[in-house]
Amino acid sequence: MTRFAYVNGCFQPHADAMIHIEDRGFQFADAIYEVWSVRDGELMDADGHFARLERSLRELRISNPKTEAGYRLVIAELLRRNRVRDGLVYLQISRGRARRDHAFPAATTRPTVVMTAKRLDHAAAQRRADAGVAVISLPDLRWGRRDIKTVNLLPNVLAKQAAAEAGAAEAWLVDASGQVTEGASTNAWIVTADGVLVTRQADHDILHGITRARIMRRAQAMGYTVEERSFSIEEAQTAREAFMTSATSFVTPIVRIDDRPVGNGAPGSVAVELRSAYLELI
Ligand code: PDD
Repeated sequence: MTRFAYVNGCFQPHADAMIHIEDRGFQFADAIYEVWSVRDGELMDADGHFARLERSLRELRISNPKTEAGYRLVIAELLRRNRVRDGLVYLQISRGRARRDHAFPAATTRPTVVMTAKRLDHAAAQRRADAGVAVISLPDLRWGRRDIKTVNLLPNVLAKQAAAEAGAAEAWLVDASGQVTEGASTNAWIVTADGVLVTRQADHDILHGITRARIMRRAQAMGYTVEERSFSIEEAQTAREAFMTSATSFVTPIVRIDDRPVGNGAPGSVAVELRSAYLELI
């Protein structure tokens, strides 16, 4: 089956889809992106992801080339052409193609819009969640505006590769004061001995995860107390539970951090309950 991508107004065979060598996304990582999970043909948490998309563009002063309705139409067509019912949609918008100069190009420069869709094996993700995953800790080497979802992901790429080489699913990034910021592509959570859920405050140091916000509201509605504060690797290792959230991993229990098991080394009941609650909500 031919896969299709969307590039600047056209659907093209995925294998031939190209952008220009002087695209600012390619040259400067001057671009933002969004990722939606798709289940049964529906976008999960669509509104939250559209709101963050607009915010990322605004923060970088890239003009939004489409309306939300316009994006939704393209996404629906992309899912149809790629026959994706369970998977993800990726959208990237760069400041466009211009002669290489660091400062912004002329205001008439058209942003580049790229969208792809791919199938994901939710059953395999469920098996990973059932077993629980390991994470390693690494220094957070990223820039100071991690709340903007830019394609400036080299530190995340290196951290994820280090995790893979260590046999772990994720790397938890640690700031200069020894506190966990988030994972390379997920938000980080712990459950204290008293059953309180803790996740770092959503400031400039972390991506404001749409799944994080959704889980926070859901957990509070279920009667849990949620504290937004930072925590160290030591606190996480001795916590009752740890887990991570993202659009593609939903809620995934963590059973090992570096060389120490979390809790009894099996997925925690709160994480398992929140994962089911999230999947039911959607
Ligand atoms: N990653 N933190 C980082 C650094 C991320 O890249 C992501 C998402 C998250 C979770 O955000 P959300 O719940 O909105 O997906 C947290 C996506 C899935 C990715 O890069 O593919």
